[in-house]
Amino acid sequence: MSPVTTPGSAAEPSATVTASMLEVRDVTLNFGGVMALSEISLSVAGGALQAIIGPNGAGKTSLFNCLTGYYRPSSGSIIYGGTVLDGLAPPDIAALGIRRTFQNIRVFPRMTVQENVLAGAHLRAVAGLPAILAGSPGWRRTERLLRDDADRWIEFVGLADQRRRTAGDLAYGMRKRMEIARAMIGQPGLLLLDEPAAGVSSVEREALSDLIARVHAQGVGVVMIEHDVELVMNLATNVCVLDGGRLLASGPPEAVRSNPDVIRAYMGRRRK
Ligand SMILES: Nc1ncnc2c1ncn2[C@@H]1O[C@H](COP(=O)(O)OP(=O)(O)O)[C@@H](O)[C@H]1O
Ligand SMILES: [Mg+2]
Repeated sequence: MSPVTTPGSAAEPSATVTASMLEVRDVTLNFGGVMALSEISLSVAGGALQAIIGPNGAGKTSLFNCLTGYYRPSSGSIIYGGTVLDGLAPPDIAALGIRRTFQNIRVFPRMTVQENVLAGAHLRAVAGLPAILAGSPGWRRTERLLRDDADRWIEFVGLADQRRRTAGDLAYGMRKRMEIARAMIGQPGLLLLDEPAAGVSSVEREALSDLIARVHAQGVGVVMIEHDVELVMNLATNVCVLDGGRLLASGPPEAVRSNPDVIRAYMGRRRK
């Protein structure tokens, strides 16, 4: 793996939709009596920007947790880039190129923005994060490359002037963008965003929407859980709807928007 990716260095334009990048096959997930996911099958093409919508408790985050190895499906199979992920641990899956952000932001609040973003690179670095942060002599070059790379992604997400700030002091929307930079430095082939625009101002939402489009334009596959239907309809190439752990509909945004089942089950219903 090359040590450095920079914004703009993507080989593939976003319009290139290739064969399936991610296959979810009949995935079922039980928690005791609760059926969080029920025989979900989904195919995400390379180059797609797949949105997942659905009411609270529909199973959206659980699906992400299955894709990233945090939850183990009760049955079914997940295939990424031809590799079967079943039984792999989260770091192994991350190393294959699937990165995520969390619905409930996870940052190191006392570390700077730059250090938080660098933390996303640790799977890439032979030395490991402690050696990088300690500046161990053998790894100076790697460290410099990674720091430069971190700075480029920090700039890409619009936080260049916040680089040395403590992450805990950032506004919520800025932390969300920092999480995207942290995921991107890991050179993902597939980026999973769990409600990236939830709880931010409308101005921040515009900025995040633009950022997600620019991430996608780097050639990264994106799967995004999002409640804001307008944002989803503007950005997504494909939309699927989960309801009560079941896949209610899947297809291009306009087809899903006008699907009567979807209108009945979700669009017409107010979120809590
Ligand atoms: N670790 C867990 N233990 C027990 N139940 C869980 C767990 N994670 C999720 N669930 C249940 O699975 C269902 C789907 O939750 P979730 O995937 O978080 O929904 P969404 O992200 O669509 O709001 C809910 O009923 C939730 O309570
Ligand atoms: Mg959720």
